Amino acid sequence: MARFAELVALDAGDHDAVCRFCEGQRIGLVVIGPEGPLVDGLADSLRDAGVPTFGPGRAAAQLEGSKGFTKDLCARANIPTGGYVRVDNEADGLAALARFGAPVVVKADGLAAGKGVTVAMTMPEAEEAIREIFAGRFGEAGAEAVIEEFLDGEEASFFALTDGHTIVPFASAQDHKRVGDGDTGPNTGGMGAYSPARVLTPALEAEVMTRIIAPTVKTLADEGMPYTGVLFLGLMLTRQGPQLIEYNCRYGDPECQVMMLRLESDLGELLFACADNRLGALPPPRFSADTALTVVMAAEGYPGTPKQGGSIAGIGQAEAGGALVFHAGTALKDGQLVASGGRVLNVTARGTSVSEAQTRAYAAVDAIDFPEGFCRRDIGWREVVREQG
Ligand SMILES: Nc1ncnc2c1ncn2[C@@H]1O[C@H](COP(=O)(O)OP(=O)(O)O)[C@@H](O)[C@H]1O
Ligand SMILES: [Mg+2]
Repeated sequence: MARFAELVALDAGDHDAVCRFCEGQRIGLVVIGPEGPLVDGLADSLRDAGVPTFGPGRAAAQLEGSKGFTKDLCARANIPTGGYVRVDNEADGLAALARFGAPVVVKADGLAAGKGVTVAMTMPEAEEAIREIFAGRFGEAGAEAVIEEFLDGEEASFFALTDGHTIVPFASAQDHKRVGDGDTGPNTGGMGAYSPARVLTPALEAEVMTRIIAPTVKTLADEGMPYTGVLFLGLMLTRQGPQLIEYNCRYGDPECQVMMLRLESDLGELLFACADNRLGALPPPRFSADTALTVVMAAEGYPGTPKQGGSIAGIGQAEAGGALVFHAGTALKDGQLVASGGRVLNVTARGTSVSEAQTRAYAAVDAIDFPEGFCRRDIGWREVVREQG
């Protein structure tokens, strides 16, 4: 980012400091990236100060901040999603589990940095998850839990922009959450992604728009919590059609990287139109028909304790072939690029198919010298199998 912009150390939790900075610098648009400040109402503070802001306020951000809130909204608006029960203590949780039976999904209600969900194949696993939540493993985020029907199918992500009344489809992507090849090992923030996700056909996208997104936006507006920003839907494509797994209130990582590589419209103009309530006046976003695919290079130990400080070289060679390397967790130490996070680089490439984008992305990965890093070697595998027919 420092190559393109001036970096400023601001605490996003200090709303007054953020507002003062924006007023002082006459900032024309704030885009709130992470979920914490959204759920914490930073967008409300900025809008109250007259600063145009992309992202939902505190009330609408409950879509991501409370899994129970979203399930209740789905129930009120008749949105397709798995059956569920909300519980606020261990005894009720265990009793509810007995009614569901395994497999079953147990979720901490609040923000848990991607670690609050257990997909339990057996009852003991599910019971253990309930006990952990109510023993305080997730703090306040685990004051409540949601027990959910297990949905079977392939997952895909879909994104839409809204200013609170106009809704425009953005793009689709497919993430790879597990740390290991073949979707094995523990969950991560995402080890790679590609866009578009062709498994989400135009017909399925239309169904998602009318049956899930439109009633969500309308219900929130009708209930006095208008949503502005991007809606990120986690979907399960079941035999009964697409079902909502969850909403996020932001562009996720690494889905964002692959969608941005395909976007041909002016992103700033789109986001500003959302903030400014005139999304309907713009032409819909245009995307390249190409596929973009990104491979995450992580530091050894991730998603546990990642090894910090590993040296990285070869980014220039990797990009010489047309790939783009996003820095996620890097720092400069005495002029040497080093790892400073769990997920360190997003090595991203385009192609006319997933197979081609995959080949190009891994050629770029192989040009990078990061001895204390690792990556999955199979990003995009579901679609590559389908392309090879
Ligand atoms: N009802 C469900 N049935 C099957 N799998 C689920 C269900 N809910 C969640 N999952 C799995 O768990 C993952 C994490 O759940 P999600 O609700 O997206 O929580 P978060 O992203 O906040 O950790 C999903 O990506 C999906 O793989
Ligand atoms: Mg999720």
